[in-house]
Amino acid sequence: MTITRTDWEKRNGHRAGVVWFTGLSGSGKTTLAVELEEMLFERNVRCRILDGDRLRSGLNQDLGFSEQDRLENIRRTSEAASLFVEAGFVVLAPLISPYEAGRQLARQRFESEDFIELYVRCSLFECERRDPKGMYQLARAGRIPEFTGISAPYEVPANPELTVDTERYQVRQCAHSVIEYLETENWIEPMRTHTEAEVKR
Ligand code: ADX
Repeated sequence: MTITRTDWEKRNGHRAGVVWFTGLSGSGKTTLAVELEEMLFERNVRCRILDGDRLRSGLNQDLGFSEQDRLENIRRTSEAASLFVEAGFVVLAPLISPYEAGRQLARQRFESEDFIELYVRCSLFECERRDPKGMYQLARAGRIPEFTGISAPYEVPANPELTVDTERYQVRQCAHSVIEYLETENWIEPMRTHTEAEVKR
């Protein structure tokens, strides 16, 4: 018998889908994804991070940073994400995804109820101040061409399902808002700290 996505969802006790992160380099996408993975793990939610940086070292290693290559990066990542969705996973996909067209491409790959666009907001000023990989400094010095926010555009998402602000809030607080959103959308069950019988007592 063929095991379907629904079979996996029933077995897992949660819905499958994609949380597509977008935000500047250094905005905290990967950090947030790692925090979320930990929280989801605690709730027995099967999830998989498909990180832009990580995929670029393997599956997407032939791609650069032209608009066309960034779109191809998204296309391939969406395909990989859909394989995990079919297996009942909640996929976390932190990629800069700077172009609206690219984010549309990702969105169109999925049913609307299976796709959440998450805008990880942080000002360029703050991302540059953090500069965790020293890349902004190199980009300012003209040593990295087409660097998002410096010499290539970042189109702020017009209608993301959810925005978290890593400039104003700690990563844990941002992760909590994502979890709450997943609960309201019925992707995952609210964490039950007490059984109903315990509450009545
Ligand atoms: S995306 O634009 O195609 O979505 P992706 O998330 O996969 O980008 O990869 C971004 C990472 O690649 C950055 O975090 C940074 O480490 C690295 N990088 C190298 N060159 C560039 C560049 N020109 N613009 C943006 N990021 C770059």
